[in-house]
Amino acid sequence: MQNKITKLFNIQYPIIQGGMIWVSGWKLASAVSNAGGLGLIGSGSMYPEVLREHIQKCKKATDKPFGVNVPMLYPEIEKIMDIIVEEGVKIVFTSAGNPKTWTSFLKEKGITVVHVVSSVKFALKAEAAGVDAVVCEGFEAGGHNGREETTTFTLIPMVKEQVKIPVIAAGGIGSGRGMLAAMVLGADGVQIGSRFAATEESSAHENFKKTIVDVKEGDTHLTLKELAPVRLVKNKFYEEVQELYQQQGPTIEQLKELLGRARAKRGMFEGNLEDGELEIGQVAGLIHEIKPAKEVLETIVAEYQQVKKQQLF
Ligand SMILES: Cc1cc2nc3c(=O)[nH]c(=O)nc-3n(C[C@H](O)[C@H](O)[C@H](O)COP(=O)(O)O)c2cc1C
Repeated sequence: MQNKITKLFNIQYPIIQGGMIWVSGWKLASAVSNAGGLGLIGSGSMYPEVLREHIQKCKKATDKPFGVNVPMLYPEIEKIMDIIVEEGVKIVFTSAGNPKTWTSFLKEKGITVVHVVSSVKFALKAEAAGVDAVVCEGFEAGGHNGREETTTFTLIPMVKEQVKIPVIAAGGIGSGRGMLAAMVLGADGVQIGSRFAATEESSAHENFKKTIVDVKEGDTHLTLKELAPVRLVKNKFYEEVQELYQQQGPTIEQLKELLGRARAKRGMFEGNLEDGELEIGQVAGLIHEIKPAKEVLETIVAEYQQVKKQQLF
């Protein structure tokens, strides 16, 4: 399956496992890379030296290409970037920030840079900043998202009309059919998060993995737009956020106070299903089993190829 994305990263399939806080450490990233996709270590929940350890373990676990996802809101971003360079990481996906800030620094070091966007405007900014490709993440996606609520189905063709660099679709893709749909809309590859969160190698807590399997259509919602929009499972913490919205238009300070510290860790890593923040995409409604990452990837590839070949659509 050779195309612009497999060539850009030197991988077998144009499938990227999205970087995910508390979920994608070296185990998941190396499993996906070994299976022929591109695994990404999610640095957003790691202290710099923890990231170094994950990179080193990932290098031992795979001789295939892998990358690091860096949300640019990170307070110790300089240290993170230095470690990435020191450890010889060849691929970086940046998100949650201005693509201009780090792209030239990374490109000068010979690193392939991809930026995650949720709108045409930011896709154009990323292209102008010199990135090698953009991930276009629609409203369905798990994790942080755009305020505009543009769906993957509309975002991909709109970005494709305006940019020349390769486009990677993200949000709502968890099957071969989903992947094919994204490619038909103009994507050159796909980035998959939620489906890989419910794998054996994911570092999410077992309680959270089971919740992903239980989530049905309608069980997640994009909220906390005034802080940083995020798609959450509707648990007790989510209901507390909604109560605040219903009583009065909450101030940013009130939302920050309710969110407090380490909510995401509490939910996704420590397995506190009531008080923790549980980030997952709408596609969780299609996830029925916790499986090894290799099997997830192979199932997606097989379905993609079968549906495409037999034109089962
Ligand atoms: C639990 C979780 C954590 C995430 N953390 C990050 C992150 O740290 N950085 C980032 O750029 N995207 C993050 N994402 C987004 C994913 O990388 C990916 O783009 C998204 O999950 C794709 O949509 P899907 O969930 O429908 O597959 C996260 C997603 C999930 C589900």
